[in-house]
Amino acid sequence: MTTLATVLITGASSGIGATYAERFARRGHDLVLVARDRPRLDGLASRLAQAHGVAVEVLQADLTLAQDLARVETRLREDARIGVLINNAGAAQSGAFVEQSADSVTRIITLNTLALARLAHAIAPRLAQAGEGAIVNIGSVVGLAPELGMTVYGATKAFVQFLSQGLSLELSPSGVYVQAVLPAATRTEIWERSGIDINTLTQVMEVDHLVDAALVGFDRREGVTIPPLHDDARWTAFQAARHTLISDIRQAEVAARYTELA
Ligand SMILES: NC(=O)c1ccc[n+]([C@@H]2O[C@H](COP(=O)([O-])OP(=O)(O)OC[C@H]3O[C@@H](n4cnc5c(N)ncnc54)[C@H](OP(=O)(O)O)[C@@H]3O)[C@@H](O)[C@H]2O)c1
Repeated sequence: MTTLATVLITGASSGIGATYAERFARRGHDLVLVARDRPRLDGLASRLAQAHGVAVEVLQADLTLAQDLARVETRLREDARIGVLINNAGAAQSGAFVEQSADSVTRIITLNTLALARLAHAIAPRLAQAGEGAIVNIGSVVGLAPELGMTVYGATKAFVQFLSQGLSLELSPSGVYVQAVLPAATRTEIWERSGIDINTLTQVMEVDHLVDAALVGFDRREGVTIPPLHDDARWTAFQAARHTLISDIRQAEVAARYTELA
C-alpha cells in the first residue's frame, strides 16, 4: 500500500477502542469509528482530526441490529481504503448463568461473536485479494478460564481466540495478518456497564498501557498478544500441550476406557 490504510474500529466511543483510535490517528491513519453513541463518536472524531490532521468518519451502528451490522459489512466490503479492522466492540455481563435473562445472553453472544465474525468475514476476502491488511480481534483472558465465573462472556471470548487462530492459519498465506489481543482486567467503562464495581478488583491495567502493548504485538505481527502474561513460555507450553492432545485423537477408535467396562 502506498498510502497508509484507513482503520475501522468498532466500539471506538470509549475505552480500548477509543485508545486504539487515538494511537492510529497519531500514526497518521485515517479512521472510521463505529459504535452507538453518536455524540461521543463525533467529539472524538473532531478531536483526533484536529490533533493529528487525519480524516475521521463516524459510522453510528448498533452491531446487535441486523440492518446496522449490514451497513458496516457493506462498508468493509466496498471501501478499498480500509486495510485494518479493529474488531473491539464488546460487552460483559455480571451474575450467574441461571440469573441472566435470555435476552441479555442473546445480546452478548450477538455482539461479541456474531458481529465480530461477520465483520471479519466482510473484509477478509478483499484483504486476501489485495494480499495485505490486518484484522485485530479483542478477546480476553477470561476466554481461557471458565473458573472465573463469567461463563457466557468467557465463552464468547474463547470463540474470538479460536476464530482468530483459525483465521490466522487461513489468511496469513495470502498476506493478511490476524491478531487476537487478550486483555485481563483493564480500566474502562465495561465494568460499570456490566454492573461490576471496578474498585472490587485488586489489580487493573491502565487502558493506555494495554493498547500500547497490543500495538507492540501488532507491529511484531504476533498471532496472540496477551499484555498481562509475563512469561510467554507459558503460552507456548499451552499450545504445545494442545498439539500433544490432538495428536492422541484417533478418529476411528473408541478409547479403551469406554470399552473395557469394569
Ligand atoms: N476492560 C476490560 O477489563 C477488558 C478485558 C478483556 C477484554 N475486554 C474487551 O475489550 C473490548 C472493549 O471493551 P472496553 O473494555 O473498552 O469497554 P467499553 O469502554 O465499555 O467499550 C465498549 C465499546 O463497545 C461499544 N459497544 C457496546 N455495545 C455495542 C453495540 N451493541 N454496538 C456497537 N458498539 C457497541 C461501546 O460503545 P457504545 O456504547 O457507544 O455503543 C464502546 O465503544 C470488548 O470486546 C471487551 O470484551 C475488556
